[in-house]
Formats: sequence, structure tokens, C-alpha cells
Amino acid sequence: MQRSIFGAFGRIALALLLAAGLAACNDSGGGPGGSGSAGGSASTESTGDGGSSGAGGSGDAGAAESAGAADAGSGGSAGDVILIGHYASMTGKEATFGQSTDNGIRLALEEVNAAGGVNGKQLKLITYDDKGESKEAGSAVTRLITSDKVVAVLGEVASSLSIAGGAVCEQYSVPMISPSSTNPRVTAGKQMVFRVCFIDPFQAAAIAKFTTENLKLTKAAILYDQTQAYSKGLRDDFTASFTKMGGTIVADQAYNGGDTDFSAQLTTIKAANPEIIFVPGYYTEGGNIAIQARKLGITVPLIGGDGWDSSQLPAIGGEAIEGCYYSNHSAPDQPNMKEFVEKYRAKYGATPDALGGLGYDALMVLVDAMKRAKSLGGKDLAAAIAATKDFKGVTGTITIDADHNAQKGVVIVQIRNGSPVFVAAVDPSEG
Ligand code: PHE
Repeated sequence: MQRSIFGAFGRIALALLLAAGLAACNDSGGGPGGSGSAGGSASTESTGDGGSSGAGGSGDAGAAESAGAADAGSGGSAGDVILIGHYASMTGKEATFGQSTDNGIRLALEEVNAAGGVNGKQLKLITYDDKGESKEAGSAVTRLITSDKVVAVLGEVASSLSIAGGAVCEQYSVPMISPSSTNPRVTAGKQMVFRVCFIDPFQAAAIAKFTTENLKLTKAAILYDQTQAYSKGLRDDFTASFTKMGGTIVADQAYNGGDTDFSAQLTTIKAANPEIIFVPGYYTEGGNIAIQARKLGITVPLIGGDGWDSSQLPAIGGEAIEGCYYSNHSAPDQPNMKEFVEKYRAKYGATPDALGGLGYDALMVLVDAMKRAKSLGGKDLAAAIAATKDFKGVTGTITIDADHNAQKGVVIVQIRNGSPVFVAAVDPSEG
């Protein structure tokens, strides 16, 4: 369904783009506020769901359970509940990743339970906060498997954390579905790890294509997070695609996640005179980099990857991020997202980012597999997930391929008046 409209969308979007002359990003000299003072302190949004919190790390306070009596001790699918685990950045500087995903998963779970559950059993979700840290991610997944005895694990968003949690799932033969981790290493060579999203070589090609064909820009600078597998991979993949399409990388700079001062890198970038700056990191740094770039008088557009997807990006970046672009899994103003966006708004009082839909789809793909699986044992369940074909998700049609990935379209959005607006789409066949 989604696939067939990508072509038309792309053409419409391109026409709109040309008509509006969007290549110019915001060129007001400086953003509001201080120089990146929001770094590391992106405030968390209310999830609107009392069951979902978790400032307490992997201790009890970090657990949120829903649906019925707690019999976590009896584990797995014993009694009349089936336990599913979720590990997520419910707090920390990527907090909206975990919160949005958890919201989406819980929305799906409620619908499944209201419709009678799975094979007559209600589902129960246990969420642990990993604070956006690899070590916490590993211990959260260990606890979900060895102490709660979940039948499957959902998470993470950040690829480095999915790599850490995935290793634990492999060790115990418990299936894991990442809603949104895009680095190839997350699933490569894994028996138990799957994802319901596209991977970064395709995402990078879509960004390069949009930059060269739609924006007609061929001189790019890069500023990436060398501590994140996602960011480094996307930088490598973009460099390969962009140069193949005739572009030149005029500056290639790195930062460490958590940094708040990017002035040295941005000064080098400014001197190289790029037409666009690719910033494949997460939203807190993305917003701060935009502010500091404008302060230095850099007026060219910034473009990010899906890691920019957060209501906190415009909240942090303000004026400085206006007019900038990023690639994503879906845009809230796409016609095919309408029904989901309305459901999510009704429950949480906020417009979902792409992670809400991806969390929803991850749970629904798991449920679909549970219904088809020979048993809920790890190997049987993994085999059923691997056999997922043409599943109609809210973020697109999902077929799990031989590498345990899904092939879905990339959308490009632009920040206008503080919200992401759909401007183009790239179909998987165009990769
Ligand atoms: N793709 C990012 C990663 O792999 C995570 C992400 C997905 C962030 C979607 C925001 C939205 O690290």
C-alpha cells in the first residue's frame, strides 16, 4: 500500500519542492538561547501513560507492566499471560526514543488484548530503562530473559544498544525485534535478531539522492558521532553514495555523543565552504549543532538521518533548525499515517514521531508471528518472525528478508514552523 504511492509522492514532492524553492535553509544569523546549553538535558515528555515511566534504571522502579495480574515470576507464557520485554532509553539524552517507542508498543498491546490476546492469553509488557547506555542495555535484556523469562524482546532504537542487547538474545536464544535500529551489524549473522525497518546503506543512498537530485547540491560537509555505530555507519554509507552520484565531501568532522561544544569542527567546516552539512547523529546534538552553526554564520542547510526524529529537535534547535531536512521512516502528515496518528493523539495527546509507529509495528509483527509459531519457544518463534511476509504495518508493508531486515521506503521531511513536513520519498526499488 505504502509502496505504490511512493512514486507519486516523490513526483508531487519534487514539484512542490521546486515551486517553493526550498534549497535555502534558514539563514537567520543565530538561533535562540545559549550555545548548546540544552546539551545532555533534553527534557523528557510525558508519556501520557501512567504505566510507562522508569527513572530507576534496571531496578524495579524501571519496570512498567501492563495488563492484568503480575506473575512475572512464573515467567514466559505460563498462566494466562504472555510476557514480552522492552528495553529502551526512557531517560537520558535520547529519552524520546524510548518513550515514543514504548507508547507505540503499548497502544498495539492494548488493541491486541482488547481483541482477546494471543491464543487466548493476554500480553503483558515489561519495560526497563537502559538510559541510552550500552552497558545498561545488556543488563536490562539479561534481566528480562533470565529473571522475568520473557518470550521475546523488543528494542532498542539506537543501533549500538541493539547490538549490545542482541548479543544477549543470541546467547539465550530469545527472539528480539528492533523497531528502528538501522545499522547493518544489528542483524548481521544473528539467528534471533530481526528489525521492522530499513537499513542504513539504503537510508544513506536516499539522503544522497535527495541532496543531489532534489536540492541539486554537490558539495557536502559531514559532522558525525564517532561513538555511535549508527552515526559512523551512516557517514560511511553517505560518503560512498554521494561520491558515486557525483558529489564531493569537502570536510569530514567527528564529535563524541554528549559533547556540547562543536565550534572547532564547525569552524573547519565553514572554511571548506560546503553547500550542505550532513549530521548523522541523534537529536540532542543535532539541535545544538544547528544553533552553533548559525552562530558561526553558517547559513547552508543541515540534513540529518532518522536519528533526528524527535519533538526535541525543534525544541532544542529553534530557529536554527528551521528549513533543515532529515530522512525518516514515516512523516505524520503522510495520508497513510492518518489513522495511526489520530489513534496515538487520542491516547497520548501528542503527534507521534516515526518511533511511535515503528514500536506499534514491532509488537504487531511479533503478535502475528506468535499466532503462526509452532510454539513460543525461542527457535520456533524466531522461525515464525523470519517467515513474516507482506505484513501491513502502519509504517509500511513489512517482509522480513533473508538478512532479517525489512525493505521499506525512506521519507525526507523538512522542519517548518517547528514540525516535520513531508517533502519527498524514496522507494526501496530506487536504492
Ligand atoms: N536508526 C537509528 C539507529 O539505528 C535509531 C532511530 C530510528 C532514531 C528512528 C530515531 C528514529 O541508531
